[in-house]
Amino acid sequence: MPPADRPRFAVTGRLPGPALELLSAAGEVADPVAATPLPRGELLEHVAGAAAIVCFLYDHVDAELLDAAGPGLRVVANVAVGYDNVDLGAAAERGVAVTNTPGVLDDATADLAMALLLAAARRLGEGERLVRAGRPWAWGMDFMLGRDLRGKRLGIVGLGAIGGRVARRARAFGIGIAYANRSAAEPALVAELGAERLELGELLASSDFVSLHTPLTPQTRGLISAERLARMKPEAILVNTARGPIVDEAALAAALREGRLAAAALDVYEHEPRVHPDLLELENVTLLPHLGSATVETREAMATLAARNALAAVRDEPLPTPVPLPTT
Ligand code: GLV
Repeated sequence: MPPADRPRFAVTGRLPGPALELLSAAGEVADPVAATPLPRGELLEHVAGAAAIVCFLYDHVDAELLDAAGPGLRVVANVAVGYDNVDLGAAAERGVAVTNTPGVLDDATADLAMALLLAAARRLGEGERLVRAGRPWAWGMDFMLGRDLRGKRLGIVGLGAIGGRVARRARAFGIGIAYANRSAAEPALVAELGAERLELGELLASSDFVSLHTPLTPQTRGLISAERLARMKPEAILVNTARGPIVDEAALAAALREGRLAAAALDVYEHEPRVHPDLLELENVTLLPHLGSATVETREAMATLAARNALAAVRDEPLPTPVPLPTT
C-alpha cells in the first residue's frame, strides 16, 4: 500500500501527453500500458487500493469494480465525455465522485460528424472501395451521383456542445438547421444558427440529414427505432457519432437495404466493437471504428483533463468537470 500522501492512481489504459507525469508527480501510478481493454479479472485486481480510477469508455464501472477498489476510492475519472459505462448510482452510494471530459473533444467530434455526412452524401466509401478493388470505371454523367448539401435541412438530435458545433459547420455548407432537444438549447446558439426546434418525429420526417448528439441514457436507448426510422424521408441520411445503442441497428440495416433510407454513416455501434453483419453487406453505409475524438491533440487534452480531475479529487479540491450524481 502506498503511504496516505502518495495516493494510488489506477489507470486502465494508455494515457498520452503529460497526463501520466502529472499523476506520477502526485502519487503511485498503476499503469498497465495496455492498448486494449483489460480483461475483467485483471481490471478488478488492477484497481485494488486505488484512490482514483482513470478509465475509458470500454471499462464497465459497476458496484463490483468500485468495491474491488476499496474504501479509499475517491473518484472515477472517465476519459470520455459520455459516461454511460459508469453506474452513477453505485458511485453515489459509495461516495465516489465521477468526472468526464466535456469540451475538449467537441471540435474533433463535430469534424468527424461532418466528414461522415460528406462521405455519405457523396458516396466516398463506395467510391474508394471501387477504385481500391481495381474495378473498371469511367467518368460519366450519371456515374456514382450523390446529393448536394446546400439548401438541405440538417436535423440535430441533441443541440448541445457537440451538436452545436456540427450545426455551425453545416451552416457553412449552406444547410439549414432544425433540432430536437428534451431541454431548451442555449438561446444564443439557436439564434446564431437560425435553428427551428421540432418534436423528434417531426424532425425526422422533415430533415434531409439527421445527426445524433444525445448521450446514451435509459430514455435514449433505442430512440431511433424501426418506427422512427420509418418516419424519415427515403432520400435521407443518418449520421451517428454519439452512442451505438441509440439506434436499432437491425432496423437501420433493413431500412437501408429496402431503400427506405438513402444512407447512413456510423462511428459507433450497438454492441461495440461488433458491427451488425447486415450493415457490413451494404454499400450505402459508411462505417468507422469509433474515431470521434481520435486526434493527437484531442486525446492529449482528454487525458490531461481526466488527470486533473483525479488529482483534484485526491487533494480534496473542486473537480474541474464533475458528472452530476443521483442523490442517494
Ligand atoms: C467518446 O465517445 C466520448 O464519449 O468521449
